[in-house]
Amino acid sequence: MKKITKFIALLLLTCWVGCKKTNTLTTSSTTPSLSSAFLSQSSFTNRGTAQSTSLTVALAYAITGSVTFSIISSGNDFTPKTYTTTLTAGQASVAIPLSFNGTSTLTSETITVSATGYTGTPAATGTIGTTGASGYNTLFIPPTISGTTFNLTLAASTKQFKTGAITNTYGYNGNSFWGPTLIMNKGDNVQMNVTNNLINTTTVHWHGFHIPAVMDGGPHQKIAPGTTWSPYFQVKNNAGLYWYHPHLHEKTFDQITMGAGGLIIVKDPIETALALPRTYGIDDFPLVFTSRRFLSGNQFSKTIALDNYGDYAMANGTMNAQVNMPKQQVRLRILNAEIQRGLNIGFSDNRNFYVITNDGGLLNAPVAVTRVVMMPGERIELMVNLGNDAVGASLDLKAFNSGQAFGFPGQEGNPTQPTGNAGPINGGLLNNTDFTLLHINVAATTANAITAVPTILANNTYWTTADVTNNRTINITGGQGGSNFSFDNNFYNYTTINQTINLNAVEQWTIVNNNIFGHALHIHDIQFKIISRSSGAVAGYESGWKDVVYLRLGETVKVIAKFDDFTSSVNPYMYHCHFSNHEDEGMMGQFLVQ
Ligand code: C2O
Ligand code: CU
Repeated sequence: MKKITKFIALLLLTCWVGCKKTNTLTTSSTTPSLSSAFLSQSSFTNRGTAQSTSLTVALAYAITGSVTFSIISSGNDFTPKTYTTTLTAGQASVAIPLSFNGTSTLTSETITVSATGYTGTPAATGTIGTTGASGYNTLFIPPTISGTTFNLTLAASTKQFKTGAITNTYGYNGNSFWGPTLIMNKGDNVQMNVTNNLINTTTVHWHGFHIPAVMDGGPHQKIAPGTTWSPYFQVKNNAGLYWYHPHLHEKTFDQITMGAGGLIIVKDPIETALALPRTYGIDDFPLVFTSRRFLSGNQFSKTIALDNYGDYAMANGTMNAQVNMPKQQVRLRILNAEIQRGLNIGFSDNRNFYVITNDGGLLNAPVAVTRVVMMPGERIELMVNLGNDAVGASLDLKAFNSGQAFGFPGQEGNPTQPTGNAGPINGGLLNNTDFTLLHINVAATTANAITAVPTILANNTYWTTADVTNNRTINITGGQGGSNFSFDNNFYNYTTINQTINLNAVEQWTIVNNNIFGHALHIHDIQFKIISRSSGAVAGYESGWKDVVYLRLGETVKVIAKFDDFTSSVNPYMYHCHFSNHEDEGMMGQFLVQ
């Protein structure tokens, strides 16, 4: 049992002028590692009238013992007070009596609740608690593992996503959905130990990593139930955001849907030398965006042909997520972990932000944008300035997905028609709509705040057409008359080698998508440079090292990569569409480097 001595939750209380209506209270925590401890509240009625009421604090973790809450207000609604109570095992909430003096004329105020003295271990399967009147839940921040040995165990779990029944899920290392964030240094030799406690076979792929194919965790590196797979490799990638996820052929969609996946943060001296936010969960936020559709009974709907799109957005597995971010420059490390939906990301007030990395690390310089399109598997890190926002103000990070051209995944479907259980094939409540990915509450500036975006980030030298030693063309095929998508008219075959590449070749791949719909091509082993798009210019925000590229409908895209360091005459690498439904349906090929 771990003694928890200090805990602070910030509660934002909004009261409209006059204070005669029901006022909504939203809660969030400034202590990410314990962020689920206090979750719900509640609304107050007639706060402008003298009254006695109570503040209900939900306890999502199994904590016990004598606890003293102290409750203070930035306004004049009530006299600051403390409240001491003894928690019993399994207690779900505490109602703290509060007397409002009825004289408040404030339009908003912040209530801060802190708690001391209790003991308890945050439960690995802690539920997200009851949704407060605000509808927001505190963003889950995945725990981290650092060092050179990384032990992961995938197991079945459950999570309370919706009112009513709990949802069956998968998570690594006791997490109820998703897994810990692995933090590694470039150059380190790391040992991975992946234990499969599922009743089904799985694999774990280190997405974006430049490592030997036998360590890559593709469909061939199977981990049988009850066994441990222990690959090892040197981290050769640049500082940036990568991720791990199952890659068992025809099971990737299913296992990712259940929640299996996790982030990897690589650090290196170039990134470390920059004045960037890097305090995890404080000014540097891991953000994994996805969505799910639920069956009646609250289980995930995961019929491959029906569930391209979820109906409910999640950030780090939290639905209706909110988080406190300090009033300064903050860094958001974003993964689009959707099955098929693209995300046209921006802020609710259309403010500028800076993209500082692509899939394979830092850009040479930050790129200012108001929107970034991200396909499944793609990562960016961005910096956004909250320094001009008032403490207590809020804004949303959104997917501006309405009005996209046909072929943008998530454009189709009728958003006004609730899909309920297994919905229309290409519909979904979030399709063709603008929806919130994360509600951000601006909190106090931290010590040593970063206040500017560096003007120079890195000094990457990219491949150009002058470096190319071999050309290759990949055609996107299939899809006609409801058939599945493929590459060059071949569905994935476990024993077929589709491409053979010479060690140290600098290859230009021309990917031709004259085929019905958009896709996202991911190539294992390498990071590439996008050279051209037939639809127009390559966006500045995708000018860095990439391992996933969006292929618009009707578009031909050229990328260049060098295939160095690792050869094998038997172990292939994969290339595939990163829509995991397409991948599982056969839109994948494999190549040998030799
Ligand atoms: Cu993220 Cu082949 O996968
Ligand atoms: Cu696809």
